This record gives sequence, structure tokens and C-alpha cells, in this order.
Amino acid sequence: MDSILISHVKSIVEQQFEKHSADHDFAHIIRVYDLAMHIQKKEGGDPTIIACAALLHDISDHKLNGGILNDGGRVAASILSDLKAEESIIQHVSEIIDAVSFKGAAVKDEKGSFELDIVRDADRLDAIGAIGIARAFHFGGSRNRPFFRADLPPKEHQSFEDYTTSKSHTINHFYEKLLLIQDRLITPTAKEIGKKRHSLMETFLEHFHQEWNVELDS
Ligand code: ADP
Ligand code: NI
Repeated sequence: MDSILISHVKSIVEQQFEKHSADHDFAHIIRVYDLAMHIQKKEGGDPTIIACAALLHDISDHKLNGGILNDGGRVAASILSDLKAEESIIQHVSEIIDAVSFKGAAVKDEKGSFELDIVRDADRLDAIGAIGIARAFHFGGSRNRPFFRADLPPKEHQSFEDYTTSKSHTINHFYEKLLLIQDRLITPTAKEIGKKRHSLMETFLEHFHQEWNVELDS
């Protein structure tokens, strides 16, 4: 494992994410990195590739770069190339970053390497459970969206554009992405972690709807 390369990448990412908001800040990157390295220890895969891809996976997110989709691989490649990383590392890490994102309920995940599966599982685990709930409401709040509107049902997005331009209320995001994640996790280690996080979201939603409708126990 190339610890020197990884620590350089970590400090570059830390600087760049200094002012990002809590749904996509450096703390998110570190949680994804820790989750990815945990999965790697249990299941294998190249640790340098997994570490670099986890650290760089949100380096040029469309929500923060003016709306350009699939630009992260290019930016990651340029950072790794400045750090004189081997060509095979640059290539593999940028492929992972371009494929990692959730692109809509009806859009199948791109297939790739085992390292891609691990980084994608780690990123998705951080989108569900207690942290996932906090991130979703932070995201919705930052765009001044309502928690819920009963007259706007969830949609099954057919394309990445469709998904990224949606301006729905925050509860819809659970039905349009977060509750779908459990079945899209690949590695057994992530599936195990995902179960608890998924069931927490189900309990949360059940209580949310009861409280929204002011259904009180008699
Ligand atoms: P990924 O990291 O898989 O690319 P996104 O970039 O789509 O995921 O989302 C980043 C974070 O913002 C996640 O926690 C996600 O749940 C949240 N988020 C994205 N879109 C919405 C939305 N429309 N409403 C609420 N939260 C959202
Ligand atoms: Ni992420």
C-alpha cells in the first residue's frame, strides 16, 4: 500500500473540502474512506486504489462544480498525475470515480472492478442510516425544500439528468434513492452494515408519517 501517496491525496482533499457543507464535507470523505478500508480488510482488493478512489470520489461533484456530470475522473487523474502516481493507478481510480455515483432509480449501476464495488458500497452506506437522514435533511434545508408534500409522490428517475435536476421534497429522496440502496450493495460486509441502517430509516419514516398526520396513540 502506497501510504505516502495516500497521505498526499488526503491533505489535498482536506484543503479542497474545507468550506463544503455537511452533506458533502471532508467528514463525509473520511467516513467513506474508513468504511472502504474496513470493507477492504474483510474482503480484499487493492488498498491503494480503494484509498485514493474513496478520498477523491466527490472531487468534482456536479452539485458543486456548476452542474457538469461525470467530471470527477478527469480532476482526480490530474491530481494523481501531479503527485507522480503510476499510470495504472491513475487510470483505475478515475474509472472508479466516473462510475461511482447513484444515477437514478431506473438507471442500472455500471459494472466495473471489485475496487469500484467497495468504494461505491462505502459511499452508499454513508447515504443511509442516521448519518444518511442527517445528510438528506441538511441537503433539503440548504435548498429551502419542504420536508414533505403529500401531493407530490416519488418518481422513478430514468436518467442521471432526470435525477439530478429533481427539486422534490426531502422525504421523496428516501423513496427515490435511500431505501433502494440496501438492495444495490454488493459486498457481504457492506450488506451486513446496511441492514441496520436500512431498518433505522424504515422506523424513522413510519414515525415521520404518523407525526405528520398527527396520529396519536389513544
Ligand atoms: P452520491 O454521493 O452517491 O453521488 P449524491 O451526490 O446524489 O450521492 O448525494 C450526496 C448526499 O446528498 C447524500 O447524502 C444524498 O442522500 C443527499 N441528497 C442528494 N440529493 C438529495 C435530495 N434531492 N434530497 C435530499 N438529499 C439529497
Ligand atoms: Ni460521496
